[in-house]
Amino acid sequence: MNEMIEKIITRHAIRKFQDKQVEEDALEQILQAGIYAPSAGNNQYSRIVVCQDREANLQLGKLNRSMDMVQTADPKKIRPVSAEQPSIRDDLSIKDAFYGAPTVLTIFVRGGYYAHDDAAFMAENMWLAAHFLGLGACYIGRAEKAFDTEYGRELRRKWGVPEDMTPIGHLLLGYMDGAAPHAKPRKEGRILRV
Ligand SMILES: Cc1cc2nc3c(=O)[nH]c(=O)nc-3n(C[C@H](O)[C@H](O)[C@H](O)COP(=O)(O)O)c2cc1C
Repeated sequence: MNEMIEKIITRHAIRKFQDKQVEEDALEQILQAGIYAPSAGNNQYSRIVVCQDREANLQLGKLNRSMDMVQTADPKKIRPVSAEQPSIRDDLSIKDAFYGAPTVLTIFVRGGYYAHDDAAFMAENMWLAAHFLGLGACYIGRAEKAFDTEYGRELRRKWGVPEDMTPIGHLLLGYMDGAAPHAKPRKEGRILRV
């Protein structure tokens, strides 16, 4: 198999991080990978906010956690995500949806059209870049709700994010704590050759 494709296939969602902060050189490369993601009509409407303020990340992570619907769902109906690196779905006692990651990137996009598409391409570019550099990463959705709170509004004001930009998601970054999880098996029948 092609070496790059093999790398893509061994990317995983990482939820256990060391305390160590992400090195500047690695972070810069990851951000460049994000900036070079494709965008609809070359609009380049997305922005990345890099937050390494542990307290802000913890507060935002807790808010994001409190917005997750799974907390109120029937536990028997929750499909497990990962036994090796439990997600907030697997372990309702996890209070920080960012799992203590030392760096949290938030992707904001201007305008409604293709906002989620643009953000997803950007996030995946950076997720892969992090993996290529030996870092762990995980995408976290539900950004909008957490920023629609007093704390969230205050934070985006402090960050100087323009009013017309919508927070779409977060990419957690850090050095993995412990061994990498095994690849999750992919469901059969997801490719239809017609
Ligand atoms: C749109 C989206 C939202 C996600 N949100 C979360 C999340 O809130 N919390 C979390 O722990 N993982 C989240 N993930 C990571 C997925 O759980 C993970 O990608 C999935 O379990 C497959 O595992 P893999 O990435 O290791 O292949 C999200 C992934 C995507 C694409």
